[in-house]
Amino acid sequence: MLTEATLQSVHNETRQGEAYAPFELDNNLYHKKFYIESYGCQMNFSDSEIVASILQAEGFGATRNYLEADLVLLNTCSIREKAEQTIRKRLTEFKKVKDARPGMLVGVLGCMAERLKSKLLEEEKLVDMVVGPDAYRTLPGLIEEAETGQKAVNVMLSRDETYADISPVRLESNGVSAFISIMRGCNNMCSFCVVPFTRGRERSRDAYSIINEAKDLFARGFKEVTLLGQNVDSYYWLPPSPKGVCEEASNNNAVTFANLLEMVAQVNPQLRVRFSTSHPKDITEDVLHTMAKYENICKYIHLPVQSGSSRVLQLMNRTYTREWYMAKVDQIKNIMPDCGISSDIISGFCTEMEEDHKDTLDIMRYSGYDMSYMFFYSERPGTLAARRYTDDVPLDVKKRRLQEIVELQGKLSLESNKRDIGKTFKVLIEGESKRSSDDWMGRNTQNKVIVFAKTGGNLQKGDYVWVKVKDCTQATLLGEMIN
Ligand code: SAH
Ligand code: SF4
Ligand code: F3S
Repeated sequence: MLTEATLQSVHNETRQGEAYAPFELDNNLYHKKFYIESYGCQMNFSDSEIVASILQAEGFGATRNYLEADLVLLNTCSIREKAEQTIRKRLTEFKKVKDARPGMLVGVLGCMAERLKSKLLEEEKLVDMVVGPDAYRTLPGLIEEAETGQKAVNVMLSRDETYADISPVRLESNGVSAFISIMRGCNNMCSFCVVPFTRGRERSRDAYSIINEAKDLFARGFKEVTLLGQNVDSYYWLPPSPKGVCEEASNNNAVTFANLLEMVAQVNPQLRVRFSTSHPKDITEDVLHTMAKYENICKYIHLPVQSGSSRVLQLMNRTYTREWYMAKVDQIKNIMPDCGISSDIISGFCTEMEEDHKDTLDIMRYSGYDMSYMFFYSERPGTLAARRYTDDVPLDVKKRRLQEIVELQGKLSLESNKRDIGKTFKVLIEGESKRSSDDWMGRNTQNKVIVFAKTGGNLQKGDYVWVKVKDCTQATLLGEMIN
């Protein structure tokens, strides 16, 4: 039986966790301790690293044990109802600790903070602070306020906050791959989605601060960066124009996503570059050619389709049709025949009929996704869909369709992996395999996980090796290192 909002990743050694606490900080230097858990998308995990940096400057050290924390933070997600339920449950657990340790502060950060605002404070006194995604710079003041017993709230959204100058403290890092946030917010209005309301208007971060962050990571031994945004292809940054230069002239210096990708790829050929997420309507041919041009830009695109039915796509306000999406897949495969593609799929959106669902299964086969994140539709208050359409597909039908989608994806993933048997890939070692300390685990350019024996050589994580695929499961390629 599927649980609500099944997050199916065929990568069983995925680096996207449910929640984590930081460990990188040297606690002896700090007079107070904070504990943070992150939920939701990679943007939220990346934001937690900015929060950690802000708190560090305020004298807070990190702990993995919330029982000893002065400050407990939950960086939350509102994307589906289930995500919010999980947070509420966690807050109730923290309340028990809080009752036993009256000095302890509990703060809710992120999308749920933004969506529910001060309403969160009224609920059963679980929370002392509510801080939206654009207000993290004000955390020190808010903590002070909360320490005096007042409830502290800042959920102001900003049109220009990108935290460009804040150096994130890398949390739960494997020391090999890191996220770099390149933009915030989203200007699309997909009718099912709460993100435009919780994250505000789209804005792009200073390109040079991004390059500097990539250079700094590489200098510290990192070998892979993932450029993050809700819609990375609409990245557009204009350097501040010097006095006297007309706007038109300064537009010529604009940095597009394709330009940015190229700039990051040029930091060092040994630094792999990934990005997420692409909106099918915005990924340009320029981006595809830039990917093809640089070996170190990984041949992998997360290209969420959401539905395979043009009628449903229109209601979702995705602004492309089924045919348009398929042509985009063709274009990607023409320019980069070896490019991996993955997707996000929603079952049971308003008015979805059996034939729409069949169209979804069909487009999955057409695209041959290597993996997908699959969900059933969860109505979110305030979204266009909640206001305009009735959530009319019964839950059991949503779940049954999701089950079919998940099963098909399983087959597609296995087929895709089987096609790789006999091929040799350049693999970046991320660490030991979770299952056995005799094996390494890494990824190829298509983002597929490869596990292989640690035979010979003096290797360590962060090294590149060539691995020949001998076998596979649905989730993992199994290989042998070659010289
Ligand atoms: N910006 C990204 C996705 C952000 S949310 C993009 O545009 O692709 C991640 C995924 O959650 C979405 O792609 C969608 O598949 C899913 N999702 C968003 N809102 C949802 C809802 N109300 N119910 C179910 N799934 C949802
Ligand atoms: Fe949500 Fe659509 Fe924006 Fe993605 S592009 S964050 S699905 S509104
Ligand atoms: Fe969730 Fe907010 Fe990300 S709603 S998916 S944490 S942008």
